[in-house]
Amino acid sequence: MTLNQNRNYSDVTAMADVAFSYAPAKIILGGEHAVVYGQSALALAIDRGVRVAVSRVSHANGPILRAINLGFVGEVRPDPQGQGPKVLREALSKLRELIGADAQDLLITVDSDVPVGCGLGSSAALSVALLRGIHRFFGRNLSKENEAELALDLEKIFHGNPSGIDHTVISAGGLICYKRSEQKLLIDHISPGRKLKFAIGMAGQHAGTARAVSALKERSRRHPDIYGRIFSTIGDVVEQMKFCVQEGKLAALGELMDVNQGLLNSLGVSTPKLEALCSIARERGALGAKLTGAGGGGAVIALVDDDPQYIVEAFQAAGYMAFATELEKV
Ligand code: MEV
Repeated sequence: MTLNQNRNYSDVTAMADVAFSYAPAKIILGGEHAVVYGQSALALAIDRGVRVAVSRVSHANGPILRAINLGFVGEVRPDPQGQGPKVLREALSKLRELIGADAQDLLITVDSDVPVGCGLGSSAALSVALLRGIHRFFGRNLSKENEAELALDLEKIFHGNPSGIDHTVISAGGLICYKRSEQKLLIDHISPGRKLKFAIGMAGQHAGTARAVSALKERSRRHPDIYGRIFSTIGDVVEQMKFCVQEGKLAALGELMDVNQGLLNSLGVSTPKLEALCSIARERGALGAKLTGAGGGGAVIALVDDDPQYIVEAFQAAGYMAFATELEKV
């Protein structure tokens, strides 16, 4: 079911004047890129995210997206030639298609504390928060299944052909092990045996997930056996990581994050800045550190077993933006 199939909202008795929604950002603990090739990956929703407010505005010719903070500040309309990032204009067109005529006078205000283009799932969080806000505004139910399906449609605008791990963990919340093959999709919800705390260091925006994924695809086509073995080794690392997370074996988990980072570097998705951030974290006593998401820029996550602040400060002292994070509290 989509909103579009229910364009007559006469069954909605009361429409909210304003509807608020939220979706968290995410980090990938292990298995990015290999997940595109059918291997397992571990991802968790974190304590930062995207907030949306949906309301009416007259003669808007909308929907209008007003960004308070979305990597930029300003208004976006679903207009091919209009202002604002092209992907946002396309996402708004998609929403207009889903909502139908009622989209005309919608004002969607977005605020986010997720750095954009850094592997933290800002676009998937935006997609899920938008869908939640719009459904809430029209007083309509959005099943988890429907949310995931519609979020994937929006994610394709941002990321080409994603594995689906970002919007899945953001929609599900918590920590998941995700594996997608041609035959089936496996999503395992995992309870960590101990609290997971991270320092995140930012190496700047990456060139885009779709670009990183397709460049890696090209490289792996040239050396299919070698890359295939690296992907399946990452899959093995992730299976071990899953056990360590469940058992609360944080030191071993950190070691496996370092191994995963080495393998990501061999795939060509790390950068000197990402390597520098990993070194800073390890030198300052982090249990392990790796890039998260597509790489080629973006963020490093460093696992600690106490207060992450000292690693955050070490990143900042070296000139990088940084913050502490943990699993989203629900
Ligand atoms: C993006 O967060 C992770 C990648 O594995 C791409 C994907 O899974 O779609 C690089």
